[in-house]
Amino acid sequence: MAIVRKAALSLGTLAAVAGLLLLGGIIFNGTVAAITGFGGSDSRNPDIATNRQAEELFKEGRRIFRFDTFGDQAFWGGQLRLHDAIKGGTLGGVGPGVSPKTALAVGLRVDVKALPKSLRQALAEGNVDLDDPATTVALLKLNSVVGVKGFFNGEDSLSSVGITCAFCHSTVDDSFAPGIGRRLDGWPNQDLNVGVIVSLAPNKKPLTDLLGVDEATLNKVLLSWGPGMYDAELNHDGKAFRPDGKPAATRIPPAFGLGGHNLATWGAGWGTVTYWNAYVANTQMMGIGNFFDPRLNDPEKYPIAARTGRWNIRHDRDLITSKLEALHFYQLGLKPPEPPRGSFDRAAARRGEAIFNGKGKCADCHVPPLFAEPGYNAHKPDEICIDAFQANRSPDNGYVTAPLHALFTKSKRGFYHDGRFPTLNAVVEHYDGCFGLGLEAKEKSDVVQFLKSL
Ligand code: HEC
Ligand code: HEC
Repeated sequence: MAIVRKAALSLGTLAAVAGLLLLGGIIFNGTVAAITGFGGSDSRNPDIATNRQAEELFKEGRRIFRFDTFGDQAFWGGQLRLHDAIKGGTLGGVGPGVSPKTALAVGLRVDVKALPKSLRQALAEGNVDLDDPATTVALLKLNSVVGVKGFFNGEDSLSSVGITCAFCHSTVDDSFAPGIGRRLDGWPNQDLNVGVIVSLAPNKKPLTDLLGVDEATLNKVLLSWGPGMYDAELNHDGKAFRPDGKPAATRIPPAFGLGGHNLATWGAGWGTVTYWNAYVANTQMMGIGNFFDPRLNDPEKYPIAARTGRWNIRHDRDLITSKLEALHFYQLGLKPPEPPRGSFDRAAARRGEAIFNGKGKCADCHVPPLFAEPGYNAHKPDEICIDAFQANRSPDNGYVTAPLHALFTKSKRGFYHDGRFPTLNAVVEHYDGCFGLGLEAKEKSDVVQFLKSL
């Protein structure tokens, strides 16, 4: 009853306010109405104009994140000729071609909203040939393959392909079928096997030339990565394997939840999100733009970058720089998703929170609610009791304090930069030993439940 009465009251108040505004609107010839946003014109209200600008910038960032290749098709298609591998011999390319089944198996995802109703129906009825590369080409034509953009000569002839940020940092919700659903921007694609995809390239010479290795070595490296992993420093430092022989690749992290964070990436000192966007677009996706980082001009640490001069990339025709603002804004606005209902025990999570903030010392570094330090969010390897290999590939020789939100979106390939801890229990166990915490079994599992609640 009380709730109803309160609602009625506030409705009444609203009516009164609206009445006043109306009156004000008449008296002041629209000025009041414009300030409050009730049917006012934007040109007179700076707040409304700013809101609209922000929305437009966000939407522009989304478009870039999903669909912009920055001209990198000149590399992936033009040089590596990946589109020929997709088409296969029967469609004028080379080899067996990439069927939708193969594409899904190497982790590529299909945006169901880009498929016309008739196709969705045919798919649901099993009337689409998922073994035919021609179907993959048709899916590319519909711009439905997440993060892969096809370029066409005339009607159906695939003439090039490029990749977008969504290639690695988006997945789908599987709402239609496994691998086919609505886009989830910012989520890491934990199934994407970048190494296998690149290994399909008919012409690997641009890569073997860049890295200064033969094709057999390149293939060995590419096939060592596995799903959900990529090495974003290899083409600067040439370090493909760790001293223990394991691949140097890292997990593909989410691109959401980074608002308020200073340094991005696993290794410390590269820079902020926008630094990294420029780095990736120019030096990893091989888009056409401008990029400058003299720290990479270091023959000891980054021999390939120093040799090739790819620390100072200049193009008159720049397809990247003008997009950095919107791209940055979009990612900072992408919130981490809430953990699914029932995926953790609430009472245990509450107890775990107290340990996280107290006895466990976790909040010393993972400061809530950012769960990283406001300020310089990185540490030396020995502070977290791990080896320095990946840290030493970064400018500051450290590890960035990993954001902890939405761990359920990034648990499949383990934890820490290289996925070395298979479970959260293993992570907590590691800290227990590293910091000599002396946590009891129940305290450890409570901390795990708290981590799952973030
Ligand atoms: C081929 C896969 C791939 C593509 C394409 C890619 N990224 Fe990444 N991204 C990664 C990997 C791997 C890392 C981790 C790199 C590291 O720490 O060394 C990363 C790191 C990041 C981070 C830091 C995340 C964090 O938690 O610190 C951001 C932000 C990001 N990428 C945004 C982008 C944007 C924007 C694009 C498009 C311009 C893009 N990425 C394209 C694989 C990719
Ligand atoms: C000295 C600072 C520091 C403290 C204290 C600390 N962490 Fe971390 N944490 C880090 C850093 C740095 C990383 C990233 C490691 C890497 O890149 O391999 C990390 C990574 C993690 C990850 C992995 C996230 C992912 O995506 O892989 C989890 C989970 C985590 N910490 C939980 C905790 C918990 C729980 C505690 C307390 C028991 C704790 N941390 C204490 C610095 C710290």
